[in-house]
Amino acid sequence: MTTARPQLTIDGLTAELMALAQISEAEPPIVTRVVFGEADLRARTYVKGLCEAAGLKVREDAIGNTFARWEGSDPTLAPIGTGSHIDAIPNAGLYDGCVGVLGGLEAIRVLQKFGFKPRRSIELVIFTAEEPTRFGIGCLGSRMMASVLTPQQALALRDKDGRGLEEWRAQAGFIGPLESVAVPRGRFHQFVELHIEQGPYLELEGIDVGLVTHIAAPASQRIAIEGEGGHAGGKLMPGRKDALAAAAELILALESAAKSTGAIDTVGTVGICDVFPGAVNSVPSRVLITTDVRDINRARRDGVLAALASAVEEVRTRRGVTITTDLINADPPTTCDPEILAALERSAIAAGKIYKRMVARAYHDSSFVSCIAPVAMLFIPCRGGVSHRPDEYASPEWIGSGVHVLSRTLAELAS
Ligand code: GLV
Ligand code: MN
Ligand code: MN
Repeated sequence: MTTARPQLTIDGLTAELMALAQISEAEPPIVTRVVFGEADLRARTYVKGLCEAAGLKVREDAIGNTFARWEGSDPTLAPIGTGSHIDAIPNAGLYDGCVGVLGGLEAIRVLQKFGFKPRRSIELVIFTAEEPTRFGIGCLGSRMMASVLTPQQALALRDKDGRGLEEWRAQAGFIGPLESVAVPRGRFHQFVELHIEQGPYLELEGIDVGLVTHIAAPASQRIAIEGEGGHAGGKLMPGRKDALAAAAELILALESAAKSTGAIDTVGTVGICDVFPGAVNSVPSRVLITTDVRDINRARRDGVLAALASAVEEVRTRRGVTITTDLINADPPTTCDPEILAALERSAIAAGKIYKRMVARAYHDSSFVSCIAPVAMLFIPCRGGVSHRPDEYASPEWIGSGVHVLSRTLAELAS
């Protein structure tokens, strides 16, 4: 970097984050942006405009992953990647993912202001559908880039109304062959993702930035339970095949299995429970639940899945209901790259920031990018550890620290 000292403030980035938050399917401050929906498309247009205004060359692939490139002095070298996602689950806040995208862009603009000239290109990536809301599977764009999800598997994805990925992406204007989404190892030299912690520790411990050494291994499945419906008054308790009562047992079995590992890193959640017919005076005949189990230790995570499978067998037999399970994903944990972590550490020290090494309990696109390039992540605090809620919050100071460390890291990696 040159010794010139341009005036830097976080105000522009804060205003951009607020503007992006206004683009929502729900009434602000609630952010809901489901992939390929109207708000997602408007948000993409907004962010691409900002990238173009910064002089970046913008390109999209066939699933809508977006690459905004700051050309380095040696375009033959593989670029340094940074970025995250701008889709948001229903009833979300404005920082998850967006801090990594707009903060990544800000890091690039800071380097531009300082007159830095990258040797390697720096590419900001906006991944399609990190969130699983529409198609049930998380990290769709990065998963396909890394060939962890094949085009054939992607073609089979359906939303809750049976509409397929092909229909949705065509409507969104992404029409190339899905085969072209996969990229080879070496496409990125290194990749670093800035993100809010989505947990409480950085704030509690007064730490500016977290250097992520491992990303937890997520697994999710759909469980459909078919019982026997009927009149809530006329159908007597003996012999009932209540699908919701069976689901309730499975939900508690999952909770108990996750708690019983004794490890603070094991978590199990049922976040969806659809009940049919959903009438106050009708015995539920059909229920669909989803399970989400995570741990940084894969064997322990798989132990919880096995305990849940036993509960499924037991409840099926005892209650006489039909239960079908459909594993959506069971991904391995990710180990972050020591060289990038060392660069992050040097940058945190140079920036005068307090830092610590930590694990990521949420999943991230970086997990899948790790299949094709060395990765690491940089966390900033979020108030109370709150995330996936409208009151998610990261202060401008916290975001500023993340951008500062990220910009120094990108400068080192791209030199
Ligand atoms: C991503 O948002 C996750 O669920 O970890
Ligand atoms: Mn999220
Ligand atoms: Mn995220």
